Amino acid sequence: MKKYAGILLMSIMLFMLTACGASKTETADQNAASPAPAASAEQPEADNTDQLILYFSWSGNTRAVAEEISSQTGADIFEIIPETPYSDDYNEVLDTAQREQSENARPVISGAIDDFNKYTTIFVGYPNWWGDMPMIMYSLFDDYDFTGKTIAPFVTSGGSGFSGTIDTIRSLEPGAEVTEGLSLSGDSAENSAADVSKWLTTIE
Ligand SMILES: Cc1cc2nc3c(=O)[nH]c(=O)nc-3n(C[C@H](O)[C@H](O)[C@H](O)COP(=O)(O)O)c2cc1C
Repeated sequence: MKKYAGILLMSIMLFMLTACGASKTETADQNAASPAPAASAEQPEADNTDQLILYFSWSGNTRAVAEEISSQTGADIFEIIPETPYSDDYNEVLDTAQREQSENARPVISGAIDDFNKYTTIFVGYPNWWGDMPMIMYSLFDDYDFTGKTIAPFVTSGGSGFSGTIDTIRSLEPGAEVTEGLSLSGDSAENSAADVSKWLTTIE
């Protein structure tokens, strides 16, 4: 009888130990799965996760500069693509761009920028079109509020440079700080590493 009582007692203890262990594991798992806002807010962010590059490019020059900035900063990158694509034909694009400008058009941007609010520095790149920004850049500044953010503009062109568009950005986004811009000719866009690196040090 004593023997059975001993076995029963051991079984009960074993059961209790197992149950205890299981509940500890559950608690640990719950912690791992649940968000911990206070703790994560205190942790240092990985490099430049608060920087974003937004660019529009029709023939690839501005894209090449955007990618160079991305490789030097590690910033996230988002290409502004019109919902209605432009023609591949140069003369047609010249006409379309001129018409959009005279109509003060706002071409629709395809998709949306994820987590826009988390970014504090935003590189904004575009080609010079008829002495101005392509009208889709006006759509960008209409659609998103850059208040409190730093805008670092860059442009590629056939020689006109910014054509006053930095001031335009300042007037469209009065709550943002707009840095000195980087202006490159379309021809030098593929070899922009040195210019980009120099510019990045001046705007830091
Ligand atoms: C519609 C259109 C208008 C342009 N207007 C100008 C201009 O006014 N001044 C200028 O210097 N370059 C002008 N260009 C040349 C572009 O700014 C230049 O080729 C730029 O590097 C193109 O950038 P992307 O390859 O990123 O589209 C124009 C190009 C296009 C397609």
